Amino acid sequence: NSVIHKDLTNYLKHYGFFFPNAEIYGGLAKAWDLGPYGAELKRKLKNLCPHNVGCDSQIITHPQILAASGHLKNFHDWLVECRQCRKRYRLDNLISSEQFSVFLSQKDKNNYQVKKNCPRCGKNDFHPPRQFNLLLTTNLEITEDKENVAYLRPETCQGIFTNFALIQRSTHRQLPFGVGQIGKSFRNEITLHHGIFRTREFEQMELEFFFALPKEELPHYAKKTQDLYFNYHFGWGELCSNSHRGNYDLSQHSQHSQKDLRVNGTIPEVIEVSFGVERLMLAILQDTYHEEKVAGSQTERTVLRLPPLLAPFFVAIIPLSQQLRNTAYQLYLDLLPEVSFSLTYEEAPNIGKAYRRQDAIGTIYCLTVDFDTADPNSSHYNTLTCRHRDSMEQIRISRSEGIGDDKITKSL
Ligand code: GAP
Repeated sequence: NSVIHKDLTNYLKHYGFFFPNAEIYGGLAKAWDLGPYGAELKRKLKNLCPHNVGCDSQIITHPQILAASGHLKNFHDWLVECRQCRKRYRLDNLISSEQFSVFLSQKDKNNYQVKKNCPRCGKNDFHPPRQFNLLLTTNLEITEDKENVAYLRPETCQGIFTNFALIQRSTHRQLPFGVGQIGKSFRNEITLHHGIFRTREFEQMELEFFFALPKEELPHYAKKTQDLYFNYHFGWGELCSNSHRGNYDLSQHSQHSQKDLRVNGTIPEVIEVSFGVERLMLAILQDTYHEEKVAGSQTERTVLRLPPLLAPFFVAIIPLSQQLRNTAYQLYLDLLPEVSFSLTYEEAPNIGKAYRRQDAIGTIYCLTVDFDTADPNSSHYNTLTCRHRDSMEQIRISRSEGIGDDKITKSL
């Protein structure tokens, strides 16, 4: 696992999926930026997300929203700080889940000791656990006045709940119906590890599915959370949270705002599906990343076996040699408005390197412009070599017959 982790992390940076944020200034507390191919993969992933109806609410959040949702009071982790080296930890990372449950039931800070030594300095000398609110704050005026504090949303769904009545009325939806939102969320996480798995700024894809059922028809598993786990390179971790939130959020917002949020006389219940986009990307990249020996040769290649709908690019146009750059680039420009798939242009020092780079970012087909392509006297004039990422099989296809998705996919 650790080998895969090292290779995968290096690979993600080397091939432009994830970059450490502000690296030229030494980096900002384990924050990550997306490189060109990460951004492309994320865009495609978000496009595949079912919305039912969508919305796009503000990141800067009214304090009343978070008072109603309970985040102001309850959205915290238990933090312990080492007295020697001042490193802070989440309590549940230092003790077993059984011990943590006991602690939560008693919450006796004075009669409590972490038995494990501090992973950083090796001493066992901790301050008593204290609560740490995970909301990130911002100030809406130029003075840093407590009155002007607003929050960065910790989950996208609150914007769906606060707009619920407006969404329902403006779209004429009857129950049941879903509302989806994709966007950034922020949490002042105490410990950040495993790269992009847990960060302070991340994106969520959330779907809130509203229904109203008479009480007697509510399923026995009402108000339950069923998380989906993935076996990441560091072990099992949460990928997606599925919850039956009951009608808690809408009831709270109705009480706090004094607005009627009932539909047909009842406040709807809601089932929620909540994915972290970067976590999903990490899971997909880990799952599709392969290092393999090239059949019939001594060489190895890294190939990202992404499905066509997620591959950052479907086709790459490549010149076989430097003299063919202009012809190949012109072909790329001509094809851009002609085709519906995503297209890129690749100019590696030689064709082997070009194929290797495109395999590593998951491009499905490489179209190579060679000397025959540009030679009117050649029997292969106006034809291109088309190479498939997975099989590495190559055939010639004719430019004059048109290069569309069908043409390429049918020809291989
Ligand atoms: N609205 C429900 C909600 O936010 P959650 O379990 O706190 O539930 C849902 O978060 C998903 O958001 C998680 O399963 C995870 O994929 C992602 N997520 C949560 N905190 C994250 C963080 N600090 N960094 C990256 N992704 C995170």
